Amino acid sequence: MSASVAPSPSVGHPIGLLAELTHRCPLACPYCSNPLALEGREGELDTSAWKRVFTEAAKLGILQVHLSGGEPAARRDLVELVAHCASVGLYTNLITSGIGVTEKLINQLADAGLDHVQLSIQDSEPGSADKIAGYKGAFAKKQAVAGWIKAADFPLTVNAVMHRANIARSAAMVELAVALGASRVEIAHTQYYGWALPNRAALMPTRAETEAAVADVEGLRKRYAGDIVIDLVIPDYHANYPKACMGGWAKQFINVTPSGKVLPCHASETIPGLEFWNVKDHGLDDIWHGSPAFSIYRGTDWMAEPCRSCERREIDFGGCRCQAFALTGDASATDPACYKSPYHARMTEIADADSSGQPVDYIYRRLPANAL
Ligand code: SF4
Ligand code: FES
Repeated sequence: MSASVAPSPSVGHPIGLLAELTHRCPLACPYCSNPLALEGREGELDTSAWKRVFTEAAKLGILQVHLSGGEPAARRDLVELVAHCASVGLYTNLITSGIGVTEKLINQLADAGLDHVQLSIQDSEPGSADKIAGYKGAFAKKQAVAGWIKAADFPLTVNAVMHRANIARSAAMVELAVALGASRVEIAHTQYYGWALPNRAALMPTRAETEAAVADVEGLRKRYAGDIVIDLVIPDYHANYPKACMGGWAKQFINVTPSGKVLPCHASETIPGLEFWNVKDHGLDDIWHGSPAFSIYRGTDWMAEPCRSCERREIDFGGCRCQAFALTGDASATDPACYKSPYHARMTEIADADSSGQPVDYIYRRLPANAL
């Protein structure tokens, strides 16, 4: 462990920890946000290391832990980790594809104190859902898992990533979430980093498709008000303002990778030159306050124009650093989703070119069977 780093008075507490327990996953979604180079099973933190991370997270003031992956159910110690989180007072959310989840596991997680489950679906149409997931039978399996989740009385959020193949069924996905008993549904358009970037030409919807989907989902918001909360994340490539990615860099969230690297955002390894600290060498408190990767884009002092003098700089924090790097080669640039960025027109051109071309097949990535 390193010596303790003196806290900066201007740095508040994080509220959420995304724990990527493993990158192993049976699905092969073409929009996967995990890095191009996945971390293997042999490098994963063991049970005691994860428990220490969760204990430190609670001491740091973190309230919620999102147990994610890959597929977190691939970890044999998942129930033990959930029980530990509950014992130190953390609210736990399991983010799962449902594949590899059994009814017995759901009931064990309930007994261990799991608070919430977030289940991904790929489409409302079974054949398309299985094709997008790259896994035959995924749709049917997820229906069964949703039933077990509700039978165990968990609050359920359904998460659907939208793109060209399913965007026409955005409303049907909300209807499916209602039918599955979800209290919240997140309709989030693909973010083009990680594995989604090489698949961009196969995934990008047209502006007209995007606008129609947004209108459909807004209509359902009125119809289902009081029954289900609908979160809608619109695609940056067809926007005029960026989103406040991560709620601001190193402002609210900490991401720990399977091998213990601590990131300000799940995609930040796409930015070259950042120095990430590891929980094997540093305490979480020291990392939050002292890690170079956290400090570099925290707050607004790092901004150049047009963000530096913009009235929205404390609202969106200049947008997404990973997207700024992916499209401009400079992570400190204004996110090109902003109409004030000199690259904004280029982003629109890319969106139009990628969405209007010939249909393109997905590039899947698959882990060897012995790695699952
Ligand atoms: Fe946000 Fe920067 Fe655009 Fe202003 S100039 S709206 S701070 S991205
Ligand atoms: Fe990394 Fe937006 S995805 S800052």
